[in-house]
Amino acid sequence: RSVGVVLAGGQGTRVGLRLPKQLLKVAGKPLLEHTLEVFETSPEIDEIVVLMAPGWTEDAEKIIQNAGFRKVTRVLEGGETRNDTTRRALEAVGPGEAKVLFHDAVRPLLDHRIIADCVKALDTFEAVDVAIPSADTIVVVDDGLITDIPSRARLRRGQTPQAFRLSTIRRAYEVAADDPNFAATDDCAVVLRYLPEVPITVVEGSERNMKVTYPIDVFLADQLFRLGSHTPPSPVSTDQAGELLAGRTLVVFGG
Ligand code: CTP
Repeated sequence: RSVGVVLAGGQGTRVGLRLPKQLLKVAGKPLLEHTLEVFETSPEIDEIVVLMAPGWTEDAEKIIQNAGFRKVTRVLEGGETRNDTTRRALEAVGPGEAKVLFHDAVRPLLDHRIIADCVKALDTFEAVDVAIPSADTIVVVDDGLITDIPSRARLRRGQTPQAFRLSTIRRAYEVAADDPNFAATDDCAVVLRYLPEVPITVVEGSERNMKVTYPIDVFLADQLFRLGSHTPPSPVSTDQAGELLAGRTLVVFGG
């Protein structure tokens, strides 16, 4: 049994709208609907649990009903932090072992290949992260000064899904509950910190699987949907480049 947990419990303050960004319409549909559609149509996923921003669950339910998504079994309110939201999801996923994939609702350009790779990796590993290489150099800054420039070859940009065997992620959060200094982190960080003996494998993500965080990301996501949804990035064809330039927008893939 594989369960997709869609984390939509945030308020999206950095985008700066009056509604949570997961309800923002991009390419004709709310971001949440795009994301749910990918899980709904993935042959790997049996069940979907949605954690929605408090006060907005009815909006999520309407989207699910109108779109006819049949795999969604629960729509619950998220928690105060992303970790609280994950904890609630862990309570909501029924008994027995399962593979659970936690995914940011605001990464609507996820594709089936990534989901399938995560599910497959869980046959061998208990914990899986999705990441891509970093085109930018990452510098470590303390008190306004650079203290380290780690080798880019070792660095990856973490995306989601983060996928786990249910028993493993439950155990990690149980151990974390005893730590009075627990600080909010992503779910792989909870496993890394509280179950250091558990190896976390990495599945290749994609540049398209971006997170809508700032206003500019809304524009980028919209453009990416226009170029064709759920297909892996390919170099822009001459025709497409011409079209895009005519629209005064140049999108260049690659890295
Ligand atoms: N999320 C969640 N529960 C929270 C906080 C965040 O489920 N308490 C979800 C968001 O809805 C989003 C994902 O985690 O799908 C990634 O978080 P982020 O981009 O930081 O979203 P927000 O917290 O909504 O954004 P902001 O920090 O700008 O308010």
